[in-house]
Amino acid sequence: MAAAAKTRSGGVCVVLLVCVFTSCQSWVHRAETYKRQISVQLNPNSTSPPPGGDLLHVRAVGDNDTLHFLFCSQGAPTLLLVHTNSSSSTVTVNWPEFLARNNSGSLTVEPQSSILYSTAIVFSRLLEYNDVNDTAEATSKFFPPYELQDFIWSHLRLSGPVALLCGANSTFSNGSLCLKLSVFDSEGRAQTWPQLLHSANSSQVEVWLDGIVPRANNSRFLLELQAVGGAYPFSRVDVRRSIDDEYTPTIFKVSQWVSSANGSSDILGFVQWKPVAYLQSLPALENSTSCRYSDPVLQSGEAIASSSALIQGFYSEPEAMGLNVSFGLAGDPFYNNTMFLSWAVLVGIGSPPVDSFSPLVITIMAVGLGTPMVLLLLGGVCVCLHKKRNSSTSTYEPIN
Ligand SMILES: *[C@@H]1O[C@H](CO)[C@@H](O)[C@H](O)[C@H]1NC(C)=O
Ligand SMILES: *[C@@H]1O[C@H](CO)[C@@H](O)[C@H](O)[C@H]1NC(C)=O
Ligand SMILES: *[C@@H]1O[C@H](CO)[C@@H](O)[C@H](O)[C@H]1NC(C)=O
Ligand SMILES: *[C@@H]1O[C@H](CO)[C@@H](O)[C@H](O)[C@H]1NC(C)=O
Ligand SMILES: *[C@@H]1O[C@H](CO)[C@@H](O)[C@H](O)[C@H]1NC(C)=O
Ligand SMILES: *[C@@H]1O[C@H](CO)[C@@H](O)[C@H](O)[C@H]1NC(C)=O
Ligand SMILES: *[C@@H]1O[C@H](CO)[C@@H](O)[C@H](O)[C@H]1NC(C)=O
Ligand SMILES: *[C@@H]1O[C@H](CO)[C@@H](O)[C@H](O)[C@H]1NC(C)=O
Ligand SMILES: *[C@@H]1O[C@H](CO)[C@@H](O)[C@H](O)[C@H]1NC(C)=O
Ligand SMILES: *[C@@H]1O[C@H](CO)[C@@H](O)[C@H](O)[C@H]1NC(C)=O
Ligand SMILES: *[C@@H]1O[C@H](CO)[C@@H](O)[C@H](O)[C@H]1NC(C)=O
Ligand SMILES: *[C@@H]1O[C@H](CO)[C@@H](O)[C@H](O)[C@H]1NC(C)=O
Repeated sequence: MAAAAKTRSGGVCVVLLVCVFTSCQSWVHRAETYKRQISVQLNPNSTSPPPGGDLLHVRAVGDNDTLHFLFCSQGAPTLLLVHTNSSSSTVTVNWPEFLARNNSGSLTVEPQSSILYSTAIVFSRLLEYNDVNDTAEATSKFFPPYELQDFIWSHLRLSGPVALLCGANSTFSNGSLCLKLSVFDSEGRAQTWPQLLHSANSSQVEVWLDGIVPRANNSRFLLELQAVGGAYPFSRVDVRRSIDDEYTPTIFKVSQWVSSANGSSDILGFVQWKPVAYLQSLPALENSTSCRYSDPVLQSGEAIASSSALIQGFYSEPEAMGLNVSFGLAGDPFYNNTMFLSWAVLVGIGSPPVDSFSPLVITIMAVGLGTPMVLLLLGGVCVCLHKKRNSSTSTYEPIN
């Protein structure tokens, strides 16, 4: 009888394991991934490379929609996303007007009625301060900011839907600030830390500072970002916490700067990052440094339009919000240690991707929580059996 009970509890165990396994499977193969057809075009409809910077157009065509990614270095580097409800919408550029940068409407998405939503991110300034006392406080001495719109930008280097843009200010000597844009046709995860999860509705921009000569030994840097969200400004930053850091060791948070419709929790556009930057080109745990951000504040629409040809050409009355991301907390190594700093951010439409628990973590939790349960169950069964046997022997004893 004890043996039978044991096999029964063994059966329970097997059922439990099967449940865990199948739930793992369903977590891994969550809802079939949304796919887009991607095509890349550099300087669409321009006969020669335009002076002053390139314009990249990535068309990502979905089932009944198109997501246009436009990335431009005429002025401050800008990424514009336009979502349309048609799979045949097109981008038209009036190059002479676009280059003159004095009126809107030089870059349009046709038909205009198909536009569902648009958002743009401008990488506007690089700030540097001398953190004399290693407090990483913004009260420290700031140097004059580097205006990214005044940089000398290289031509875009393309490899599939990945574009690399590097630029420099003459005071950098051999150093440079680079941006790498990656557009994705489906869901996935970047190979390098922080291994952000992406979808077909988002793109990743990596930003790094390589070999820039800091203006002080204790220099720390900040990057200013400006976001244009049409009728729904990027007015808040949400921080989501997780107990799983498998993909980004030691980082349990993700920050998302979002634009959402009035009074609704639906997110229309987002800028998402993990609060970590790396001090070497091959990211390692030992070379990570923390990031902070400032609260979004309203920016001048005119200033942002004049700093970026893409904003000027597409938006008639842009409304922008801006924030700074600062790299390094008190006690973190200074930039001069490695002369390198990299950070990654995801820009997209709709709900930001959510990291779920990885199968490994689920298994660990299942084993961690399941084993005591099984032991408890087994223990209970044993106690029951023992009692039963005792009571049965006691009922037999008087007869003997
Ligand atoms: C796309 O549109 C067509 C025709 O309007 C419709 O039949 C189809 O169901 C739509 N597909 C999706 C995925 O919405
Ligand atoms: C390309 O240029 C031609 C004439 O120069 C114009 O008719 C056409 O609409 C343009 N197409 C795009 C996609 O800008
Ligand atoms: C824009 O600039 C071009 C060339 O500089 C000039 O011909 C045109 O009149 C200007 N348009 C406006 C609206 O200022
Ligand atoms: C979708 O596109 C059609 C034209 O193709 C347009 O008439 C309609 O207004 C669009 N819907 C939205 C929500 O923009
Ligand atoms: C750094 O510390 C010294 C001494 O504590 C103080 O006098 C000075 O004001 C501090 N500098 C900054 C920028 O906080
Ligand atoms: C480089 O940046 C410095 C500091 O902001 C600025 O004074 C200088 O004009 C910039 N040089 C160029 C060529 O833009
Ligand atoms: C810049 O690079 C050139 C060639 O690679 C090198 O000769 C020069 O020493 C470098 N300058 C600085 C300041 O690092
Ligand atoms: C991407 O956007 C399309 C169209 O809005 C939507 O149907 C799809 O669910 C989105 N995919 C993800 C992964 O958010
Ligand atoms: C930076 O540190 C080095 C070595 O400690 C020193 O020689 C140099 O003078 C310092 N530079 C500045 C700008 O303080
Ligand atoms: C960086 O700055 C610190 C603080 O002044 C200095 O001690 C150190 O020597 C510098 N490191 C390098 C590699 O120049
Ligand atoms: C959002 O709601 C506020 C009041 O709740 C209203 O004053 C404002 O006009 C609304 N904005 C939009 C874009 O609907
Ligand atoms: C970066 O990591 C390597 C090993 O991964 C370590 O040797 C080096 O000291 C680290 N550098 C900094 C600045 O933390």
